[in-house]
Amino acid sequence: MKKKFGLLLAIIVALFMTVVPLGTQHAQAADNSLEKIQKKGVLVMGTSPDYPPYEFQATVNGKSTVVGMDVQIGKKVAKDLGVKLKIKSMSFDSLLVALQTGKIDMIISGMNPTPARRKNVAFTHVYYQGGYDIVINKTDKAKYKNKDSFKGGTLGAQTGTTQYNAIKKQTTNTKSKGMTSQSDLILALQSHKLDGVAMEKPSAEAYVSNNKQLAAIPSNFNMSSDATSSAIAFRKGSTSLVNKVNKTVDQIKKENLVKKDYLPAAGKYLKTNTVNTSMGHYWKAFATGIEYTLIITVCSVFFGFIIGILLALARMAKGNVFKTALRWLATAYVEFIRGTPMMVQVMFVYFGLGLFVNLPALTSGIIAISLNSGAYVAEYIRGGINSVNIGQTEAARSLGMSNGETMRYVVLPQALKNIWPSLGNEFITLIKDSSIVSIIGVTELIYQSNIVRSDTYRGVAPIVVIMVLYFIMTFTASRILNYFERRMQHD
Ligand code: ARG
Repeated sequence: MKKKFGLLLAIIVALFMTVVPLGTQHAQAADNSLEKIQKKGVLVMGTSPDYPPYEFQATVNGKSTVVGMDVQIGKKVAKDLGVKLKIKSMSFDSLLVALQTGKIDMIISGMNPTPARRKNVAFTHVYYQGGYDIVINKTDKAKYKNKDSFKGGTLGAQTGTTQYNAIKKQTTNTKSKGMTSQSDLILALQSHKLDGVAMEKPSAEAYVSNNKQLAAIPSNFNMSSDATSSAIAFRKGSTSLVNKVNKTVDQIKKENLVKKDYLPAAGKYLKTNTVNTSMGHYWKAFATGIEYTLIITVCSVFFGFIIGILLALARMAKGNVFKTALRWLATAYVEFIRGTPMMVQVMFVYFGLGLFVNLPALTSGIIAISLNSGAYVAEYIRGGINSVNIGQTEAARSLGMSNGETMRYVVLPQALKNIWPSLGNEFITLIKDSSIVSIIGVTELIYQSNIVRSDTYRGVAPIVVIMVLYFIMTFTASRILNYFERRMQHD
């Protein structure tokens, strides 16, 4: 018995350590950034592919791919370093954290090297100078001239960007609205939730040329040249790497490669991008989404159940100091998990734990959701165990069964029957809630629908499709669970 509780405590302490790591920072080691990348052989580029012609999704050879001038730049940088390029997509406002926590090696995402950002990351020389426009509905063209014409209206911009700061600080009597995805902003504009969307001029022009209902006007924002140009970001202190990549950037500028090669190449994809936007055409993306949603749900329910049993037993431990401590820890864990949003927990496991071990997004997602689900399941199990009449335990004990045997053969089987409906509910909840891991780039259903949305520039259809798909999944699951529930009642 003692040994078992020792193990239990070890597990719980380990759980706690994964959830509450000390806020350490990467030590500033001597700069071997260049050497490290070359030894690794891959350069991971983080980008937010909703910003044509910088980066966007297009169907290339039947596959949704990230293309654009920034991708060309990334390819050239990787080539000059003698390594392979890997692209990781995420929302623009996650890029800096992802870089700092080692999820990616560099950011190329039309990012402006502003003084505030320079404090946290190291930028290369500038590779492109953009400037700002505001995209509006063409029908409003007579109404709006520049940023000052939107009084009483609403301007939108992508969160975490310089243009978001601009619409907040440089307009009067104008509401500002931030959204994480540029494509959502355009959709909001088209459905008249917004009156204008601020973005870099080339991107504005790309959206306008792709959509006849839109128009672009000059912004007249007062910006420093830093804030209107784009550069590549690396981790702070990567001097050798930045110096080396600066050579590539200088060459790109000198030979005018962006205007000459990269922009025209990106433009080509913009045209072919509007060919087939029917939802059926994207069935593969949705199928992958379902696959990942189910993988995450099944794994998390499984591990969550194990964690839940351990926690429930720990919460019911009574006796010596050791057991009391155990009970206290388990209670604290359950309270803490239930008192913080799952979204924050997911980000914490992915970015926070990422400081110590480099976990892939899918693994991080499963860990976070299992840890979360475990806390809820523990409560169901505890309730289930408590619901088994104490007389049964007494009887089993008087028959000479040990505490453990009583639990295993008498109490738990009956408890399971009582908690089965709650466990089933948990499963169905997780099918839906697993969608949260899309924020760390796990390619589940919501993530796929976002890709389809930015691929097709269609806002509502993908939402309807995944709504139906989620319903089919949860409905089927609840039928299956009901079937087993009825079977159990007969036993
Ligand atoms: N240039 C702006 C900034 O640095 C926005 C860039 C947005 N890029 C993107 N790929 N969505 O804040």
